Amino acid sequence: MTSRTQSAAADAEDGDAVAGETVLRTEGLTRRFGELVAVDDVSISVTEGELRAIIGPNGAGKTTTFNCITGVLTPSEGAVYFRDEVITDLPEERRPHLGLARSFQANQLFADETVLENVRVAAQTERLGTFSLKLLGEGREYCVDRAYELLDLLGIRSVADTEAANLSHGDQRRLGIAMTLATDPDVLLLDEPTSGMSPSATANTADLIEDIQEDLDLTVVLIEHDMDVVLSISDRITVLHRGAELATGTPEQIRQNENVQDAYLGGLREEVDV
Ligand SMILES: Nc1ncnc2c1ncn2[C@@H]1O[C@H](COP(=O)(O)OP(=O)(O)OP(=O)(O)O)[C@@H](O)[C@H]1O
Ligand SMILES: [Mg+2]
Repeated sequence: MTSRTQSAAADAEDGDAVAGETVLRTEGLTRRFGELVAVDDVSISVTEGELRAIIGPNGAGKTTTFNCITGVLTPSEGAVYFRDEVITDLPEERRPHLGLARSFQANQLFADETVLENVRVAAQTERLGTFSLKLLGEGREYCVDRAYELLDLLGIRSVADTEAANLSHGDQRRLGIAMTLATDPDVLLLDEPTSGMSPSATANTADLIEDIQEDLDLTVVLIEHDMDVVLSISDRITVLHRGAELATGTPEQIRQNENVQDAYLGGLREEVDV
């Protein structure tokens, strides 16, 4: 059996929540920090157009998994595939060109520049392969239009002229997503996009992620702590526990999974009307 058929078989076992091509896959992904096995033999396979959540307690290995997928960290063992290409050792900065992008973090924004300027520069980087705040001419006009489109999509056009440093926390996260989308990704990785948000901002952001995914035909991999968000918007959920994959399945399957409840959800089955 080829590894491709194996991953299709694994998808079928997960309940066939999403049919289609595998776009992103890890095989036996392992990352150690000294004695600690932060990610332990994780094989996940994400289908085109899927919204996949990765959940697990603090320290479960979620961010380390992302870091291995995006090239911030080199895996100790195992492989990462994007479509049919092995990208395990591809430099981090080459991955966005393939269509694999993670959300910009607050510390990657140009704090003294306006929201519009931040998104324009990200759009310009994608289109022209140059990173400059000062580009003039035709390219600039295109990128400004694209930036406004993205501000509309993220609902932050009203703060287009605000300096990034002066945004609310939630709007900074939205700006980070707009900048990532400006690089035209096929697969978007989001690490706790709602962290630090109020419950209502969290709900809005969850709706936004769903809308964006549909509008732009994206595959989304989302690390998220808020279980309401995870259960309501995911096609499938992967649960990590102490670095290892405990389960992958539809929200329904994850709610019902006793191993997940024992390890993580703590009686969710009783609390949530399934
Ligand atoms: N650079 C590092 N050096 C040493 N240990 C690390 C490093 N990065 C992560 N770890 C450890 O690896 C384990 C997994 O961390 P990771 O950040 O991936 O967890 P997480 O699931 O994202 O947790 P959280 O929900 O708190 O964000 C933790 O025990 C963490 O302390
Ligand atoms: Mg984390």
